[in-house]
Amino acid sequence: MRVLVIHGPNMNLLGWREPATYGTATLAEIDTAIAAEARALGISVRIVQHSGEGEIVDAIHSALGSADAIVINPGAYAHYSYAIRDALAAVGLPTVEVHLSNVAARESFRATSVLAPACRGTIGGFGGLSYALALRALARPLKSQEAP
Ligand code: DQA
Repeated sequence: MRVLVIHGPNMNLLGWREPATYGTATLAEIDTAIAAEARALGISVRIVQHSGEGEIVDAIHSALGSADAIVINPGAYAHYSYAIRDALAAVGLPTVEVHLSNVAARESFRATSVLAPACRGTIGGFGGLSYALALRALARPLKSQEAP
């Protein structure tokens, strides 16, 4: 299995950015943990970070034929980007939306994700571990990913 991991805007500042909310791990450290989890699960990952909405749409398109699943932390785009939602729906790959923080416990605008309906599920609130949990969910056989 090949998984494309997409980090959205402001993720490049992790470690520096609002550490009380997002922790002190840098993006490089999170990527190292993602790669280690992928190795343990026997899956391959390609990891990218983009700040622009269009770049993220292009990255999602690039998954067609090169990845079997997507893990995306869309940052604030989660809350309003219909273009990213449409891109996920267009490629139709199993996708897990990830957040470092527990968006449900923050400002009300973060409680809505317009991407969630185009995703298999959402994992948030566990810092960098959210990505590893998403990989584990995707690595399970397709049948057992379905709701019981
Ligand atoms: C975030 C949550 C978003 O609401 C926020 O805009 C981010 C980070 C998270 O990982 O917790 O940029 O996606």
